[in-house]
Amino acid sequence: MKIDGTLYHSIWPEDDGRTVGIIDQTRLPHSFVTRHLRTLDDAATAISDMQVRGAPLIGATAAYGMAIALRKDPSAQMMSHAYDVMHATRPTGMNLKWALDETVQTMRSLPEDQRADAAWALADEICRRDIETNQAIGSHGLDLIKAIAAKKGPGETINLLTHCNAGWLATVDWGTATSPIYQAHEIGLPVHVWVDETRPRNQGASLTAWELGRHGVPHSLIVDNTGGHLMQHGMVDLCIVGTDRTTASGDVCNKIGTYLKALAAHDNDVPFYVALPSSTVDWTVDDGIRDVPIEQRDGTEVSWIPGKDAEGRETSVLICPESTPVVNYAFDVTPARLVTGLITERGVCDASKAGLATLFPEKVTAA
Ligand code: MRU
Repeated sequence: MKIDGTLYHSIWPEDDGRTVGIIDQTRLPHSFVTRHLRTLDDAATAISDMQVRGAPLIGATAAYGMAIALRKDPSAQMMSHAYDVMHATRPTGMNLKWALDETVQTMRSLPEDQRADAAWALADEICRRDIETNQAIGSHGLDLIKAIAAKKGPGETINLLTHCNAGWLATVDWGTATSPIYQAHEIGLPVHVWVDETRPRNQGASLTAWELGRHGVPHSLIVDNTGGHLMQHGMVDLCIVGTDRTTASGDVCNKIGTYLKALAAHDNDVPFYVALPSSTVDWTVDDGIRDVPIEQRDGTEVSWIPGKDAEGRETSVLICPESTPVVNYAFDVTPARLVTGLITERGVCDASKAGLATLFPEKVTAA
């Protein structure tokens, strides 16, 4: 995606073969700051502090984190240490483990002196595949938007609702939930996006609104509680969200609040789709409510809100009494029965084991 005319990915390898560039997402939307990851700890901190976030981007960063570590020391001990450090950064997103497992499986059989270059090349490849995958997700999702457009009057706005940021900032490029939206916008379909602010960290307000705005996609920011009202009044044609981990039975774990949006969509017959690369599917687990680990984050994310004051200074404000106890679950699980369909790189399927088997027979039978 372009920012002020310059093409950016959310992560990129520098030419020195040992440094990785990222956009520091904790500084958006008010400052566009890039950073360099030079050590394993830099990569781990970037993920745990959410300078990079979104399941696919976390996976890509983890792969580069392994490559950075192996450049310093290609031993089996370092590989296992780097795996553990990266794996401990965030517990819910599947792509983290997926990327780490891919790296270790590939590196294990290689002589030590080849590991660093190979890990670096694999991280590049994971990024390349992510872009390709998200483009494919976009073209399958575009068919859904086209079908809605066909039912509406010519030129009539197609209203989509999304939660959190499953945009290009959450992936290497295109995004998952936003890819169909960008592609619809590109071919001139009159899309408009309701952007959930997505408390507590406001990824909708600070990231999705930022990237849609930069790309010229019409959108409106809404508070998280607005979606149900909009749906009751026929103001949402389609919900599309991303996911951090989807089970083999189609239960969808995504940013906290996704479940409530799915309930409202179900009650109002609004189609509720989830866009995901197959690397987000946890083929080993069926019951998302029981078996997906839900990250709990620091309570300050709830009690303190960062922003910009009237003088243009970036600051944070406390929104509750200083001593208020806070609970901060970062994700929830939407049961498959509330999901109209999964938009994957291979097409759209039912959110069920049978549905996933139609597109990924090799995975379902192997699990
Ligand atoms: O806590 P975050 O910002 O990493 O959570 C991100 C989300 O929940 C996204 O919706 C999800 O990762 C899908 S991203 C393509």
